[in-house]
Amino acid sequence: MTTDDNKSIDEVLLQEELQEQMAFMQKIKKENLAYTEETGKHRYFYNLAMGCQMNAHDSEKLEGMLTEMGYLKTTNETDADFIIYNTCCIRENAEQKVYGKLGWLKHYKKSNPDAIVALCGCMMQQDTVLNTIKSKYKHVDIIFGTFNLYKLPELIATRKETGEMTIDIWEENRLIVENVPTIPSFSYKGAVNIMYGCDNFCAYCIVPYVRGRERSRNPEDILAEIRGLVSQGMKEILLLGQNVNSYGKKLDSPITFAELLRQVNEVEGLERIRFMTSHPKDLSDDLIAAMRDCDKVCHYLHLPVQSGSTNVLRRMNRKYTKESYLELVRKVKSAIPDIAISTDIIVGFPGETEEDFQDTLDVIREVRYSTAFTFLYSKRTGTPAATMEDQVPEDVMKDRFDRLLKVLNPLIHEENHKQIGTTQMVLVEEVSKQKDTILTGRTDNNTLVHFEGSKELIGSIVPVKIVDNKTFYLIGERI
Ligand code: SAH
Ligand code: SF4
Ligand code: F3S
Repeated sequence: MTTDDNKSIDEVLLQEELQEQMAFMQKIKKENLAYTEETGKHRYFYNLAMGCQMNAHDSEKLEGMLTEMGYLKTTNETDADFIIYNTCCIRENAEQKVYGKLGWLKHYKKSNPDAIVALCGCMMQQDTVLNTIKSKYKHVDIIFGTFNLYKLPELIATRKETGEMTIDIWEENRLIVENVPTIPSFSYKGAVNIMYGCDNFCAYCIVPYVRGRERSRNPEDILAEIRGLVSQGMKEILLLGQNVNSYGKKLDSPITFAELLRQVNEVEGLERIRFMTSHPKDLSDDLIAAMRDCDKVCHYLHLPVQSGSTNVLRRMNRKYTKESYLELVRKVKSAIPDIAISTDIIVGFPGETEEDFQDTLDVIREVRYSTAFTFLYSKRTGTPAATMEDQVPEDVMKDRFDRLLKVLNPLIHEENHKQIGTTQMVLVEEVSKQKDTILTGRTDNNTLVHFEGSKELIGSIVPVKIVDNKTFYLIGERI
């Protein structure tokens, strides 16, 4: 295992690591070209991201490397010669989805024995999962984790050479390899990692165990990447980290997240800056000031509360109280009156009483969130909460969950209602899946808007008058 000694690894070594992978990419590309020449067919990849934004962003890198290796993309899994699932293990149902897919793949491989199946991501960092796959899912060809994504080309080459299941899991983040080829999912908005890992160890959460310790990227590397994306036409950048508010503290030349935001705000041509996630315990006054002062920073804050009960929060190891959270929200709202705040809520954390649950409802009523992501507590082996006494019975949990939504949804509706009659600048994202004359986009404060328009507008920021409210999205008219 390596930890702090990582810092001694210099740039040269990192470049060598990437060069080595580039050589493997060339080798596989040659082989894929020869296959096309011989058969007149192409080799296709199917790339599925199964987790959060960080996971989706990692899959953009996988796509970049696969494209570089001469594979073409398919969105139809049954056409694929190379299938890769980037897994998630945040809750049990995320893992069940992967096992379901692996069952299907067993059949697929019978009729397509040459297809290569690769698994990577958070779920693979757990020993129990690895052992299950090794013994029960022998049709998997390549397995790697969250720390060595950039090694995909080498792992493919090894699999082809040995014909055996190729596994490479690292225990810790040894190095941050920059400049891995990446293909962004959208032309107008992109995600940029500012840090990796998490040191917070919230009692319910698996992330610190599968993503390792917190490590920040250098601001120069982040800014260079953003400038590159903007020069390709990106309007909006999402800065990603499990806890962006502690960005930069451990760098050789420490810098705060507020300072980073100010620097990103200076990038010419960039129009919108978003970030996630903000841990309430680390949200500083300076950050609130930076959000207020930087014209490109969107008036939207994702501030996960998890629970409204001080008691539960203490046992969750969240390091704030109901009162301090509400005070923080008041501070943010008074500095930025038109800010939209969203949250994550877990229902049924071990030991949660009806009274604790009522505290969560109180917070919801007071904060008036614009959106909330709500979850049933899911036991994750290896986390402190998994062995806590008083696990909440499933029926109680589900009943609270239903009652939570009954309070939450009308409040979200009311909050969004305030936007009716206003004109909002909307970044047009795509044509609606329901109707091809309808476009969907997002306002500065991250609300989804549907409005009539032609697809040429995709990627531009246009003024839209809000005329109706459908709770989870708004209806607008282009003006
Ligand atoms: N770093 C972010 C969250 C990452 S996980 C933060 O601190 O807010 C996204 C969300 O999943 C969490 O905010 C939490 O609400 C939820 N979550 C995490 N572990 C969970 C578990 N074991 N059961 C249910 N929900 C969980
Ligand atoms: Fe998980 Fe807490 Fe870290 Fe978020 S801050 S990733 S919830 S441990
Ligand atoms: Fe994200 Fe899931 Fe991993 S939420 S960090 S992909 S466990």
